[in-house]
Amino acid sequence: MNTGITGDVPHIDGGESPRSVMTTAIIGTGGLGSVIARLLASGGETLRLSSADKESAQTLAAEIGRAAVVAVDNRDALQGAGAVVLALRFTVLKRVLDEIAGPLTGKLVVVPSNPLTTDAQGNVLRVLPEGQSSGEIVAGWLPAGARLAMAFGTMSAGLLESSSNRSPEPAVLFYASDDDRAGEQVERLIRTAGFEPVKAGGIEQSGRLEVGGDLHDLVVSPAEARSLIGGA
Ligand SMILES: NC(=O)c1ccc[n+]([C@@H]2O[C@H](COP(=O)([O-])OP(=O)(O)OC[C@H]3O[C@@H](n4cnc5c(N)ncnc54)[C@H](OP(=O)(O)O)[C@@H]3O)[C@@H](O)[C@H]2O)c1
Repeated sequence: MNTGITGDVPHIDGGESPRSVMTTAIIGTGGLGSVIARLLASGGETLRLSSADKESAQTLAAEIGRAAVVAVDNRDALQGAGAVVLALRFTVLKRVLDEIAGPLTGKLVVVPSNPLTTDAQGNVLRVLPEGQSSGEIVAGWLPAGARLAMAFGTMSAGLLESSSNRSPEPAVLFYASDDDRAGEQVERLIRTAGFEPVKAGGIEQSGRLEVGGDLHDLVVSPAEARSLIGGA
């Protein structure tokens, strides 16, 4: 089992050379993070995993095999990674971002979080006012130099897993970003996960991707996606 000793991934390269092994950190290995990890690993990405109590990250790393290691903690997950996916509930995002702020400089930060929480009775509640998106809030929490893309949260984990590597036409994953470099990097990750990337717009458009948005929970072809973007 890959119990996660820092530095035990061979040929880590946080850069973008196509011949390098590309490494992505995944913080949060629950329902969504575990699917993202499996899809990225299937596409050839090397992963550094981190979760709150390590157990879910260790179980997932054992399932994935050589491509994944468990980091010592959230900051350690970023070592040698060019990107981090924060597969966390919205209510813990700020705390984790504060914890890892320094090492985020220059890295792609992928956030799939919908602005939801669950109350004591198990009811799912919105934590932001209608019209305010998770993306707009997270953009204000990020340290300078981090590159944000809202992505991988546009469909349920089950639908994401079953729609990957669709043929003959790939299914689309929408994303939103204000940063061209982040756009290029997240497009690579989306392709690695077995989807065609389509940009919905800047972060101000991220509400369209989130729960309640018109682009949420859609499995569409690239042509359909582009017509939906234009039709907003
Ligand atoms: N699940 C879906 O179908 C889906 C679809 C679209 C978008 N999303 C979004 O994706 C996000 C994650 O959802 P989820 O369903 O995957 O949630 P989840 O199953 O509750 O998983 C959350 C993960 O976060 C980890 N975590 C909590 N606090 C942490 C901390 N301080 N440091 C490191 N890891 C921490 C947990 O670790 P432990 O396992 O150790 O507790 C767990 O692995 C949410 O914002 C949700 O809106 C989910």
